[in-house]
Amino acid sequence: MSFSDKSISSLPRHVAIIMDGNGRWAKRRLLPRTAGHQAGVSAVRKTVEQCAKLGIEVLTLFAFSSENWRRPEEEVNVLMRLFDRALAQEAQRLHNNGIRLQVIGDRSAFSSNLQHRIADAEKLTKDNKGMTLLIAANYGGRWDITQAARHLAAQVEQGRMSAAEITEEKLASHLSFAGLPEPDLFIRTGGELRISNFLLWQLAYTELYFTEVLWPDFDGQELDRALAEYARRERRFGHTSEQLIRQSHAATSA
Ligand code: IPE
Ligand code: IPE
Ligand code: MG
Repeated sequence: MSFSDKSISSLPRHVAIIMDGNGRWAKRRLLPRTAGHQAGVSAVRKTVEQCAKLGIEVLTLFAFSSENWRRPEEEVNVLMRLFDRALAQEAQRLHNNGIRLQVIGDRSAFSSNLQHRIADAEKLTKDNKGMTLLIAANYGGRWDITQAARHLAAQVEQGRMSAAEITEEKLASHLSFAGLPEPDLFIRTGGELRISNFLLWQLAYTELYFTEVLWPDFDGQELDRALAEYARRERRFGHTSEQLIRQSHAATSA
């Protein structure tokens, strides 16, 4: 059974994906790592289309981490070129499909051309009411929390707030995608069982799903599999299972 047949309530509102395994995909084919990144772009296109079609509200894709600058310069250059080209080629298509694109991460490290490309794609799609696509580029969970802390510290410094007034909500309001729902489902392809400095604060109660499938091989069937697994999970947020059952009975009889 495909996930599309299942009840809408078990569909995650926000899916966040670490797209990992491009290099190994290429290596298995005796191709350069960059061929894996190229193949990865097609998997991105397919996943975006399917998530939008299913009615997922927010899709976050980890494209480049703040630590990926440590890779060989040539690979970093290829990744930047692919990002630039994908934005140029896909922005109009995203716009036609009503998708709103936003890039999260420290974009000041990118070339000014790429920064313009990002700004243009965001501007073109900013009023769209369909799915929000967040591309995490030069993103790090620690960077995100640090920049939010810096904003709060500046407010305290200016005397607009006291340190005692800092709450979880106030800190969260300065994180990269404040205002959007937190991720319900996290997917990591490529078989590694780690977060690699992706969303740290925001994953506090996210359901985690790991698959051996390498990112360029990730397709509709694999997404369905992850969504079906998500639908089976019981999200308790600290409550007991019995409390949740009682709550849902109360809701259905109300
Ligand atoms: C993920 O694939 C893409 C980026 C990090 C940009 P990798 O390039 O990390 O692929 P593996 O993990 O080496 O196979
Ligand atoms: C995480 O993958 C970053 C992206 C997919 C963009 P990595 O391949 O960089 O993670 P590590 O180095 O294996 O932890
Ligand atoms: Mg990797």
